[in-house]
Amino acid sequence: MGKTSELKGLYKLPPSERLSLVAKFADLTYEETEILRKSGALSLEQADKMIENVIGTFQLPLGVATNFLINNKDYLIPMVIEEPSVVAAASNAAKIARVRGGFFTESTKPVMIGQIQVTNVKNPSEAYKAILAEKDQILKIANAQDPLLIKLGGGVIDVEARPIDTRAGPMVIVHLLIDVRDAMGANVVNTMSEAVSPLIEQLTGGKVLLRIVSNLAVYRVARARAVFEKEALGGEEVVDAIIKAYAFAATDPYRCTTHNKGIMNGVIAVAMSTANDTRALESGAHAYASMGGVYKPLSEWSKTSDGDLRGEIEMPVAIGLIGGATAVHPIAKITRKILGVKTARDLGEVMAAVGLANNLAAMRALATEGIQKGHLRLHARNIAASVGAQGDMIDAVAERIIAEKKIRMDRAKEILEELRKSSKK
Ligand code: MEV
Repeated sequence: MGKTSELKGLYKLPPSERLSLVAKFADLTYEETEILRKSGALSLEQADKMIENVIGTFQLPLGVATNFLINNKDYLIPMVIEEPSVVAAASNAAKIARVRGGFFTESTKPVMIGQIQVTNVKNPSEAYKAILAEKDQILKIANAQDPLLIKLGGGVIDVEARPIDTRAGPMVIVHLLIDVRDAMGANVVNTMSEAVSPLIEQLTGGKVLLRIVSNLAVYRVARARAVFEKEALGGEEVVDAIIKAYAFAATDPYRCTTHNKGIMNGVIAVAMSTANDTRALESGAHAYASMGGVYKPLSEWSKTSDGDLRGEIEMPVAIGLIGGATAVHPIAKITRKILGVKTARDLGEVMAAVGLANNLAAMRALATEGIQKGHLRLHARNIAASVGAQGDMIDAVAERIIAEKKIRMDRAKEILEELRKSSKK
């Protein structure tokens, strides 16, 4: 009998027993299982309550970006990311932004959309009007689901409905617009969408199928802007080169995807550090970038009359500060304190500013010395550390492998041994 992945009842076992089964399945060594057993700040008990079939936790570096001045307030930005350079790039861009007063941000109310799909509707162009005519009743039922949210000033603020034609026939789509306050909101949105569905069926004579949050949070957007002084950027030629880099992204979807990826480097790193749902943000951002029917940059770059560079960004920010993992992850509670944000709106605005910073840093590097120089330096340091170099030796080994153009483990190891021997003499 070969191995089977049908591990019945795995979910009922404690994490340590699950791990033993997985170790057996994958021939993990004792050392490997011991690594998985070390849970770090998030205990196995906590992790076991967050997702299913937990066998361990997974750690990533948590760094802080410096120099951020947002709406005249100083911020240290916690970022969780596996990629070198991103934290340094954000800090660097924020330093340049400070020269002209830092970042300025704003955001809309935290309004999420709940979608209700009504099928088997005989007359969609009449049915959707029947829904709109009963808005008050729909609002009442939905808002009764969460008295606390209403007390905090949130709740359903409007109902939209429209007929659509699909490959599976005509349908009516209802949107509940819900102010979710400081939650990411998916839970309350889904609950409310389910609760109003019987009434929607009654009003339309149709059959409700899907009732689910939309991750295209067009009513929950954050904006950030900053001016980057030309000399601090490296001169007017750099400003012009960045404008050309931006023009490339604004016209070409292959470039635009990478341009937006650079923005998401910052946004997602902050989302990770606060234990937010990064997939919701990512899918929302890219869909928002395509709203006009063509995939566009989330940011806009232009030259000021002084020859400086002006950057602006607008993006949906479906993120929360309460509920879900954001409230239980022990590190997320601390990163929130480091950030000093009080509301989900504040957090969304910070994310937009960091996204703009990372975008600027990437374009500046690309439009000047190229991205590889900085990356190589960090990569070489990583290699040096991974072969056992410590302290000053890391830079010493890194410099040698860069100079020799042999950024490889085997060469790093040899050099480290040489340096250790000569330092003992
Ligand atoms: C790498 O993670 C991000 C960049 O590719 C972004 C960009 O090209 O603008 C450098």
